Amino acid sequence: MGEARVEVQVLADCDAANEATAELFVQLARDAVRERGRFVVALSGGKTPQPVHALLATSHRDRVPWEQVHAWFGDERCVPPDDRASNFGMARRALLDHVPIPPSQVHRLQGELAPGLAADRADAELRAFAATAPDGVLFDLMMLGAGADGHTASLFPGNKSLEERTRMVMATRAPDGMEVKDRLTMTLPVLSDARVVALLATGTSKRDALRRAEADGLPVGRVHGRERTVWIVDRDAWGA
Ligand code: 6PG
Repeated sequence: MGEARVEVQVLADCDAANEATAELFVQLARDAVRERGRFVVALSGGKTPQPVHALLATSHRDRVPWEQVHAWFGDERCVPPDDRASNFGMARRALLDHVPIPPSQVHRLQGELAPGLAADRADAELRAFAATAPDGVLFDLMMLGAGADGHTASLFPGNKSLEERTRMVMATRAPDGMEVKDRLTMTLPVLSDARVVALLATGTSKRDALRRAEADGLPVGRVHGRERTVWIVDRDAWGA
């Protein structure tokens, strides 16, 4: 298993947390390309990472070796890629359309397909990609967010998908009230198959989940990187 110790970086506000996340992305990308010739990152979804994507597309753009970057997605909503709720669509509008990452190195989950078929295709693609991983570590950086209920990617508390240990990507369902019920998600072992896991959480709505995460075994508290697990939070989310 990964390095269970969590490093918590508490930043003054949301902007500072976004800046710290973008800076971590840049540093890990440069180190990975220097050491292994590529940087493999899984982007998170939802609203939180969008300002980070914007920083990476503007002020931090020229510091990332985009030609050697592979971008995956920790999860996806089962909607077409141009849907406003698509994690790929949000990342494309804020980041991927603005940086020279080769299209063949953007590995989106096909939310437009029937969930089972999309999961099988993504599972097969990720399994094949994993076979090319230098020293057997799949991701250099796994970017995650946290739901107010303590979910991460599309692994929701109490959902049987949390116990999946064979599939790398699976179809699952979000609880009532969540945006888009049908989801695709990387499974827990895959989310942790990263040198560094970086969770970005801002705002008071995440505070309870972060506080309870470890003690209550919430999904967000069960992802640990092989080398580092970093929670980048603002004061509102941490209650400092
Ligand atoms: C998703 C994300 C999910 C997200 C949290 C937080 O598809 O929704 O992958 O895990 O990180 O739901 O979402 P917000 O950033 O919008 O609060």
